[in-house]
Amino acid sequence: MHASSVGGMMSNDELNLPAGGSERIVTGIDGLDKILGGGFPKSRTILLAGGPGCGKTILSTQFLCNGARLYGETGVYVTLGETPRGIVQNLSSFDFKINELVMQRKLAFIDLSISGALRRQAEAGKKIDFAVLKDLIRPVVEELGAKRLVIDPITAMGINRDLPEIRERLTEFATFASDFGCTTLLVSETPIDQNIISVFGVEEFVVDGVIVLHNMRRGGTRVRGVEIVKMRGTDHGAHIYPVQFSRQGLLVFPEERVHGDDS
Ligand SMILES: Nc1ncnc2c1ncn2[C@@H]1O[C@H](COP(=O)(O)OP(=O)(O)O)[C@@H](O)[C@H]1O
Ligand SMILES: [Mg+2]
Repeated sequence: MHASSVGGMMSNDELNLPAGGSERIVTGIDGLDKILGGGFPKSRTILLAGGPGCGKTILSTQFLCNGARLYGETGVYVTLGETPRGIVQNLSSFDFKINELVMQRKLAFIDLSISGALRRQAEAGKKIDFAVLKDLIRPVVEELGAKRLVIDPITAMGINRDLPEIRERLTEFATFASDFGCTTLLVSETPIDQNIISVFGVEEFVVDGVIVLHNMRRGGTRVRGVEIVKMRGTDHGAHIYPVQFSRQGLLVFPEERVHGDDS
């Protein structure tokens, strides 16, 4: 696998890119940075979509922890599904050092897990209030000077809303995050084995980029992959690239391909 220069961005030469491309936020996942042409476009909002168990939470955590540990960029993880405790426990076999980063205030969780107050709101037919959400996120992002933000999953925010409103609120939220200079991952939980990107069908039009994690059936087994469906302002790899998990999190193999889809 191709190794990037430690603690910095890969050079344009390494990536075979023309000089003077847009500013990038390095994910720290070498293969992913390579197919992204150097990382995510800075201060943009990216939809991270995939079915259950595809690795969305692992990738999100890796993005924040790499930022905090390797690139001096603090991060905020807003949980609307799993609790932060659940995430830390589930990912304890990875080398993310989540607790250490939280202690050092390089990483913070905001727990809005749907199991509590928000679920009761949703069950009562109420919308999850974006103004409240922003009021909860703003002070934490400001305190940490966060440059990386994850909302996992964004799906919960669409509950009890019609499509034009979801679209409007998401656009507003993307602007809010971008105004802080945050590069944001919005996690989209899609149904298993269905070739759809977003649950509401509008998210992908609002965001600057779309990444899909696959876990495709191949006979009696499953094959993991990652695909960049859209990334404004950059050229990017156009294939489904194989993904494996290591103690460092996701590994992406930019020279290899996942072929076909029989799921
Ligand atoms: N060491 C590990 N710890 C946790 N999950 C792992 C590990 N290695 C591989 N996995 C896989 O990652 C999946 C969980 O990934 P996760 O990011 O939580 O998925 P999701 O896309 O649902 O957020 C598990 O279902 C499992 O298949
Ligand atoms: Mg998850």
